[in-house]
This record gives sequence, C-alpha cells and structure tokens, in this order.
Amino acid sequence: MRIIKAKDYSDMSRKAANILGAQVILKPDSVLGLATGSSPIGAYRRLVEGYNKGDLDFSSVFTVNLDEYCGLGADSPQSYRYFMNVNLFDHVNIKKENTHVPNGLESDAEKECARYEALIDRFSGIDMQLLGIGHNGHIGFNEPGAAFETLTHRVALTESTIAANRRFFDREEEVPRWAYTMGIRSIMRAARILIIVSGKEKAPIVKEAFSGAVTPKVPASALQLHGSVTLVGDEDALSLL
Ligand code: GLP
Repeated sequence: MRIIKAKDYSDMSRKAANILGAQVILKPDSVLGLATGSSPIGAYRRLVEGYNKGDLDFSSVFTVNLDEYCGLGADSPQSYRYFMNVNLFDHVNIKKENTHVPNGLESDAEKECARYEALIDRFSGIDMQLLGIGHNGHIGFNEPGAAFETLTHRVALTESTIAANRRFFDREEEVPRWAYTMGIRSIMRAARILIIVSGKEKAPIVKEAFSGAVTPKVPASALQLHGSVTLVGDEDALSLL
C-alpha cells in the first residue's frame, strides 16, 4: 500500500483529484468507481476545476458508484445519485447515461444486485475505485462482519452508520435502514484503489484497518490484500499509523 500524507482536507482533495485526473488523462475511457460522503467532495470540486480549465475531458468516462440507499430516488436530496449529480456529474461533460448508481427504488433486491454486478462485468471491471472509510471501518456500505466474498447486495445499516448519516436528514426516522452496496469482492476486483481519509476522528480506524489484522470485523482491512492501493490521508487521519 502506498501512503501519501497530505497536510489537511484541502491538500488531500488536491492530491486525490490529481490521481483521478491522471487516470482519466492516461485512459480517457476509464471506468471510475466513485464514492459519496464528505471525504470526496473536495476532490470532486477539484475535478470540476480541472474540467473548467480544459485539463480534463470526461466525455468518454464511465462511472459506477459504490452504493445507494434503498427507497431513495434521484430526486431525493439525500440519495447518492443526487449527491453525485450536484457534486460532479452536473458540472463536467460526462454523459449521464454513462454514470451508474444502484437503483434505490428497485424493491427486488436480487434483480437489482444482479443487474449492477453484470454492469461492472460488462465494463470488464473498474480501472480505479475511489473509497472513503466509515468510523467503524466500513467501505461502501459493507459493515463490520460482511464476508470478503460478497458481491453487490442489499444490507441492513448498523446503528453507528445510521447515527453517522443522521446529519444529512431532518429526522432520525428518515435515515434509510437499508442500502444497496457493491460487496468487498466487487471492490477488490478494481485494478487500482484510491482511498481518502481526513480528520482526527478517523485516526483510530485508519490504524486498525491498515496496520491491524485483516478481518471481516474491519471491512477496510481487506484492502491490505489488494496489490494496488493508494491511501491519501491528511496528517490528522494518519497520526496513529
Ligand atoms: C457513507 C458511505 C461510504 C463513505 C462513508 C464515510 O456511509 N456509504 O461510502 O465512505 O459514509 O463518509 P465520510 O466521508 O462522510 O466520513
């Protein structure tokens, strides 16, 4: 695992955007695996800047997002499809039909998960997967205990994830209890993985995930088994490594 130390959130975002941008420049028809949450917002902003400056062209890029809440559609401001549109897709020249997020409104979980996994297969895999990490070590919505072999599946969110995501909703009852997520195995099939992390409160989980035991109790620890992972973290997040 290559570890790149950034000064702060802004520096982490710049470094991450440079890596993603380089991927797009070197392979204009890249398949990018994308993530939501607070961590990637700054990197997406930098990618938009790169596009506005004429440095980046997304016209041939494909994207597949990690996860989506069950029950929320593109019109819902808390959905991950909405997040991706407002933070990135609406501001660059990507073709919307080339962007993919699990369909939170599909109630047939088996059908939706099979469709999504087949989509990734059709692309012959993800060139670069961007990841954040949850406080409990989750990646995507693969919560502690998720088997490393899982592909895209529907998952019940843990209380700690519901609490962490509460800030995006008016009331706790509105936070969805279920989500579709790419599985650890789907993530591990990506050719390259870029994980970004910032803030002191993530330092303990960064230490546990990347210098502790590889165990399903800490889903992100699976990344230690991947041959091409770059971790870009700010000083606070890396302070215990
Ligand atoms: C959510 C997402 C994850 C993300 C995590 C951390 O639960 N499903 O993909 O990595 O939150 O989010 P943040 O970057 O806001 O800490």
